Amino acid sequence: MTAQLIDGKALGLRIRAQIKVRTEALKRTGITPGLAVVLVGGDPASQIYVRNKMKACAEAGIHSTFAHYESTLGEAELLDHIRALNENPAVHGILVQLPLPPQIHVGRVIESIAPAKDVDGFHPVNVGALVAGAPGFRPCTPLGCMKMLESIGLTDLAGRKAVVMGRSNIVGKPMALLLLAANATVTVCHSKTPDAAHFTREADIVVCAVGRPGTLTADMVKPGAVVIDVGINRNAAGKLCGDVDFESVRQVAGHITPVPGGVGPMTIAMLLSNTLDAAAHL
Ligand code: GUN
Repeated sequence: MTAQLIDGKALGLRIRAQIKVRTEALKRTGITPGLAVVLVGGDPASQIYVRNKMKACAEAGIHSTFAHYESTLGEAELLDHIRALNENPAVHGILVQLPLPPQIHVGRVIESIAPAKDVDGFHPVNVGALVAGAPGFRPCTPLGCMKMLESIGLTDLAGRKAVVMGRSNIVGKPMALLLLAANATVTVCHSKTPDAAHFTREADIVVCAVGRPGTLTADMVKPGAVVIDVGINRNAAGKLCGDVDFESVRQVAGHITPVPGGVGPMTIAMLLSNTLDAAAHL
């Protein structure tokens, strides 16, 4: 038996259509949601991500602005720009695309964003809210993964074992916390974990966010498990691929997300959702 695909592209489009309806209603009250996107340097992948995010904003009726700086930008100039965005009432969400060049301290940049405009959910105030189970912005990629689980009926994860592979601040750590908040029993595996397969083989849900093709292979997956692939890599032939060995794992898993067309479109949908919430002061 082969796994059912979780179609992130289709689900993302459905969510974006709902956001558009809510955006139009908010606009009738005189508020146009606004997202300020900031990109530093010319990283090709970041440029594509940013373009896709802004295109999705436009389609949902969300106003977006774009500031593109040279990779030589000084930290003080970036902090000045963010300060101006914090004070601009037309800007409800601020997204500084990561990674940043090495001369800029990412922590100081994230901390300079007003928590109420931190639609990425990276500010320590929002991270703390996630840890404490308090309201706040949740990081878009893990939130999108949770929506994918919901789409196959997995809302309450009580009694389910979940393994997160990867411990980044953007995906792995917040993913583990969201799964925990949904009552899953959560294990985080990372580069220093000996024998990650020991854990993944027991898991009902595996979220793979390592950034390395072939991280999860069929022998590491429990039959029927749900596999969510956060990776976006290029293989030797230059083709987009995830972290999961898709062709072999799909023979074992119950559900699996494709790359492309899986988690990526969900990240964008969640960014729009957070921006709309920021504008509506939810
Ligand atoms: N770089 C990779 N993923 C993300 C994301 O979700 N937000 C931002 N700002 N940068 C990223």
